[in-house]
Amino acid sequence: MAASPTPPSSWYLRPDILQREKESVLLRSWQPVCRVEQLAEQGAFVSGSFLDQPWVVTRDGSLRAFYNVCRHHAALVAQGEGCAAKLTCPYHGWTYDLDGRLRSAPRLGAVKEFQRELYGLRPIALEVWGPWVWLNFGPEPAPLLTQLEPLAGRVSLDGLRYVCTRSYDIECNWKVYVDNYLDGGYHVEVAHQALAAQLDLDAYKTSLEGSLVLQECGAASERLGDRAVYAWLYPNWMFNRYGPILDINWVIPLGPERCQTVFEYFFDSSCSQEFIETSLAASHQVQLEDVEICESVQKGLRSQGYDVGRYAPSLEIGEYSFHHWLARDLAQGPQT
Ligand SMILES: [Fe+2]
Repeated sequence: MAASPTPPSSWYLRPDILQREKESVLLRSWQPVCRVEQLAEQGAFVSGSFLDQPWVVTRDGSLRAFYNVCRHHAALVAQGEGCAAKLTCPYHGWTYDLDGRLRSAPRLGAVKEFQRELYGLRPIALEVWGPWVWLNFGPEPAPLLTQLEPLAGRVSLDGLRYVCTRSYDIECNWKVYVDNYLDGGYHVEVAHQALAAQLDLDAYKTSLEGSLVLQECGAASERLGDRAVYAWLYPNWMFNRYGPILDINWVIPLGPERCQTVFEYFFDSSCSQEFIETSLAASHQVQLEDVEICESVQKGLRSQGYDVGRYAPSLEIGEYSFHHWLARDLAQGPQT
């Protein structure tokens, strides 16, 4: 690491690299697409899309996930979220049970060798950890739970309640945002002065556990409590636990030079509305500072005046690990 350059600018610019990242990494890793509480009732469903893969999660006794694509002519079957006894495609009325089976294909007539049982919605791997429903769009994924175990041992999720979701569209490659998160607090003192005043940055500690990078730091404020844990699950999920707060950043590429970060906020149920609003405003401020930095980096990456940089070895171990894991997976390609 002390001798290594950082990845070349082309990593953060080229559409073909993003395509490889999608196929080899992002669609083969666990993604927290919605919350379990959205699917509490029998018949509940939630739909969405991740990297052009429309999904729907249903509650049919247990939770199930499917590609939200009609097996007839590919229209999206479910819209938004709600509660239903069955899912009916709005195009030609093909109807699916909540367990994905094709129940009826109206007026199909004398189509040859049609076996209805072969035309159910295609399933997607699903797991539950914490308050989230996680999907993995790859074949035979490794269990999520084992990946997150080291985190579960360090933090408590007891007493937290979901408050809100905020999204930010950022003009930068998704990895620029992840790099910024994984710099071991290097940028905090310079770019987040109000936040830095509440953290003990000298005691910032980074450790690696499997697919997790854990960054921990002492803190001293009402909002941050006495300790902050910033955990990142390879490749694109961040979990920030401090004081009575949990916030999540889910980073989603929108293009080679655009991404979205989806923030979900959870607060201890004892928190007052005033505290929640003050905390959300402080978090928004930190986010605006990060957006400005990330967009600045993206502009610099396009410049002829930059190709590769250097790591700060005592700080940027998380970032270095991210780049190594990603390079390894891109070299292997999408194994089936
Ligand atoms: Fe930051």
